[in-house]
Amino acid sequence: MNPPSLLPILCYPDPRLRTVAKPVAAVDDRIRELIERMLATMYDANGIGLAATQVDVHERVIVIDVSETRDEPLVLINPEIEWASPETRKGEEGCLSVPGIYDGVERSIAVRVRALDGQGKERTLDAQGMLAVCIQHEMDHLMGKVFVEYLSPLKRDRIKSKLVKAQREALRT
Ligand code: NI
Repeated sequence: MNPPSLLPILCYPDPRLRTVAKPVAAVDDRIRELIERMLATMYDANGIGLAATQVDVHERVIVIDVSETRDEPLVLINPEIEWASPETRKGEEGCLSVPGIYDGVERSIAVRVRALDGQGKERTLDAQGMLAVCIQHEMDHLMGKVFVEYLSPLKRDRIKSKLVKAQREALRT
């Protein structure tokens, strides 16, 4: 089998990042191929998480790997937060769709999430630390939300113009 081909990642402020994803109807070959390609794309970009929204597929699919060894892929299909800790913490976040930008976002320190895995089996996962943050960040993408939207309008506008300028320059060269 050929290695899965990479998918282009949408870059903020691309309006397609605001699309709300639909639930996956069936975990079939099409979804399994999407997952393989999303994982390859995430590893290639050195990311710890990727939502289908970021590759312009508007279905509720997330891939994550927060392991240091980069060999513990986690697939969440139709994820739902069952519980989020009232205790929150502000931590630095980045995003493959917002290259080069890192800023603090307040998130629950632990979550319980229910989702289908890559085989379509229902699972419940208790997550904390970086994994909990990553799940919340990726689930925001599925709702059309990018982490910079938690920042002040001033900061957000600055990031927007910086990225628009960088994309314009990349097109020119
Ligand atoms: Ni992101």
